[in-house]
Amino acid sequence: MKKILIQSFATLAIAAFLAGCCCTSQNTGKCNTGKCSCCSSCSKGNIKESSFGTLPDGRAVKLYTLRNCKGMEARISSYGGLVISLTAPDRNGKYADVTLGYDSLDGYLKETPYFGALIGRYGNRIAKGHFTLDGKTYTLAINDPPNTLHGGKVGFDKVLWNARPFQSGIGQAVELTYVSKDGEEGYPGNLNVKVVITLTENNSLRFDYTATTDKSTVVNLTHHGYFNLAGEGDVLGYEVQILADKFTPVDQTLIPTGELKSVEGTPFDFRKPTAIGARIGQDDQQLKFGRGYDHNWVINKPFGELGVIARIYEPTTGRVMEVSSTEPGLQFYTGNFLDGKITGKGGRVYNHRNAFCMEPQHYPDSPNQPNFPSVVLKPGQTYKNTIIYSFSAK
Ligand code: BGC
Repeated sequence: MKKILIQSFATLAIAAFLAGCCCTSQNTGKCNTGKCSCCSSCSKGNIKESSFGTLPDGRAVKLYTLRNCKGMEARISSYGGLVISLTAPDRNGKYADVTLGYDSLDGYLKETPYFGALIGRYGNRIAKGHFTLDGKTYTLAINDPPNTLHGGKVGFDKVLWNARPFQSGIGQAVELTYVSKDGEEGYPGNLNVKVVITLTENNSLRFDYTATTDKSTVVNLTHHGYFNLAGEGDVLGYEVQILADKFTPVDQTLIPTGELKSVEGTPFDFRKPTAIGARIGQDDQQLKFGRGYDHNWVINKPFGELGVIARIYEPTTGRVMEVSSTEPGLQFYTGNFLDGKITGKGGRVYNHRNAFCMEPQHYPDSPNQPNFPSVVLKPGQTYKNTIIYSFSAK
């Protein structure tokens, strides 16, 4: 009996494989053939390209809708490489948008705290907008006084990217490319940047960043999604785990002091899953400086190795988000500056702590901190960074 069952299963599996059915074979490449009758949403040519409006100078902005066989959907804009929406399943298999943002381009053009944005050339803060490289001091725009934040006044989140949708071996993807000119926002070197955003068949949104330069420069790219796994409300009940024994304490302008401090016995110890709200209100100087969590954790795993660095669980819907990265640090930010003044998608008001951000990256102010892992990119080298947000439910 057992033998017959095994044989039948093997026959079915081979039949499914030959038919190119991605629902059972996991072989997403088969979707490319258009043979997938059971999951036509991922068949060839199905990456929807539509208009997302025009920029004030008349240039057209495109919106790409990526889908996978399971029913997950991500919408990516060629302006700012923004993730406009991203759906994920709850424990009953119901998909809902788990990101904050706006319904239309106008909102992003008027005011955005980096909703869903592609961040560069240097993610996070550089103290007083200065750094010295090869003996020369560079001056950057101060857009978060007294510091520069997320690339300056016109960071990579506010430029139009060249976009090319394609079906990759692991899912539907958009390749974004941009040349950041020598001197743009004060940074040296023409920087050629490529970011591939893929919605994979195993419910992950994956970012693969590469960059090259013609002059020594500094690079630190990341993704600035604001996540709300329940679809609404604050995030204080979410359980967070961060695989880090240390963090980088900051001064009151959120610039690291240079110390790598143990999380032991502090509200920054997320080595075991802990509710965001459990200690956020404690009388702690670091929490006061950040108005909550707005800090960089020193990831335990070796820099450059792709692996899980954080997990977030939302108890009411059961949604789980797992963050993987190659980067040495993780900025965990709890939407402390959201204050109810922004009305976003579907007319929702974004109140204090209605989202969290998990931004894998290098440590803040690394260009001025000789003891931090280097962010210098030289001609002939290729900057590489991978970030994956994986969704499931329990
Ligand atoms: C920073 C916050 C900042 C936010 C801007 C985060 O990456 O850590 O300090 O307020 O971006 O929206």
